[in-house]
Amino acid sequence: MESPFRADIVKGKVALITGGASGIGLEISTQFGNHGASVAVMGRRKHIIDSAVESLRSLGISAIGFQGDVRKPEDAKRVVESTFQHFGRIDILVNAAAGNFLVSPEDLSPNGFRTVMDIDAVGTFTMCHEALKYLKKGGPGRSSSDSGGVILNITATLHYTASWYQIHVSAAKAAVDAMTRNLALEWGTDYDIRVNGIAPGPIGDTPGMSKLAPQEIDSKARDYMPLFKLGEKWDIAMAALYLSSDAGLVA
Ligand code: COA
Repeated sequence: MESPFRADIVKGKVALITGGASGIGLEISTQFGNHGASVAVMGRRKHIIDSAVESLRSLGISAIGFQGDVRKPEDAKRVVESTFQHFGRIDILVNAAAGNFLVSPEDLSPNGFRTVMDIDAVGTFTMCHEALKYLKKGGPGRSSSDSGGVILNITATLHYTASWYQIHVSAAKAAVDAMTRNLALEWGTDYDIRVNGIAPGPIGDTPGMSKLAPQEIDSKARDYMPLFKLGEKWDIAMAALYLSSDAGLVA
């Protein structure tokens, strides 16, 4: 597919993408790279990160991978600082790491609930907190003419109404949406950081879909969709590019 954006729309920018080695996160990493950004991907599984970095580099993208768990504050700090050490600046933080499984509320242990809250909600906050220093206007690596950086949080639409077997994820994504609005207000005002969220519906060919929607549900679900098809990772990556680049800024 041909990109609607100029090939250099994020040239010179450095993006750190949690969950950036698989699913929607990897497509965002790839499209940011294809449009000129250097990318650091963070994830828990070394072999997945290694293979993502290899595939990004094979496309000519300047990429590096860091193993880490967003639930561990020391990992968040190390990965943010390593990204800065490696590339000399951080312009964009994408929080795409997420945990998910289908379970009824009565079968979900409090620790299971907490696990997803920790990954999605607390993990997102921790990453934002660690990256603030580098993203804020005038922060390390930013020249006096640079604006502040960008934070992009990937959530979902489950919690807009109610979804079966997703109480933990719905609570976690609602928390992230709240953080997105609060940071947009407070860090936009104080530090010139643009904070946005993208809430994908069902997206094909992702770990989320294969985990959450068995084939028969998947094909039925399409009948209820306005375009009779699932979204594509590309759709989300293009929205991410729009929100993270200067494409939407009025001169
Ligand atoms: N059903 C019910 N409870 C579950 C569960 C399931 N399928 N999977 C995990 N849990 C519960 C565990 O029972 C445990 O609670 P307990 O101690 O009370 O028993 C708690 O969650 C932690 O489980 P654990 O296996 O130790 O967690 P983990 O840190 O190894 O893994 C997950 C975290 C569970 C979220 C993991 O599946 C994950 O991260 N998956 C990949 C990400 C993903 O799904 N991406 C797509 C996003 S849409």
